[in-house]
Amino acid sequence: MTEFFLEYKTYIVFLHVISAVVWVGGMVALRYAAHPSFMEIESPGQRLERVSHALKNLFIIVAPFILILVVTAVLMIKGYSISSTDYKTIGYAKEGIWTVMFIAYLVMVYRRNKAAKALVQGDFVTAKNQLGMIGRFMVPLNITLGTIAIFLGSYFSSVF
Ligand code: HEM
Repeated sequence: MTEFFLEYKTYIVFLHVISAVVWVGGMVALRYAAHPSFMEIESPGQRLERVSHALKNLFIIVAPFILILVVTAVLMIKGYSISSTDYKTIGYAKEGIWTVMFIAYLVMVYRRNKAAKALVQGDFVTAKNQLGMIGRFMVPLNITLGTIAIFLGSYFSSVF
């Protein structure tokens, strides 16, 4: 595993970094660039539909990158033998952050699907509650956690 990692290190680290860029950057762009623009739409139904549709696209785009992030993380854990170094706690912290971000992602997918069904039935209140929770708390939470993981990654790259 170490030999494989050392041979393909540049590609593995690149895939890890680009995955973080797409996942965290995608959430920032949707939440702080697209979302305020959607809020200008006057009709509540159309507004919620646009938000729901954009979230669906984002969740589909980031899905493979979430997977690539964790696969490359496992390759780096093995390749750098992180578990047997003084930096294992930081490794565990990054694993924990990825896990919380992934669970939050699954919850957001579930909530968005619920909102989409509610919109079809004309139930704007349920749709607004489901989507509101995603925009107000869950996306900002994942952006914060992702930023911490990126900082820990920068620390890692300065010591390995
Ligand atoms: C799942 C557990 C994770 C592990 C074990 C892990 C491990 C690492 C390691 C060892 C590096 C240094 C690579 C090198 O320079 O050779 C790194 C860099 C990086 N990680 Fe992670 N990572 C994990 C999760 C994450 C997550 C969740 C994100 C963000 C969403 C992330 C974003 C980054 C970024 C952006 C870098 C590059 C930093 C730089 O080069 O300055 N990582 N990671």
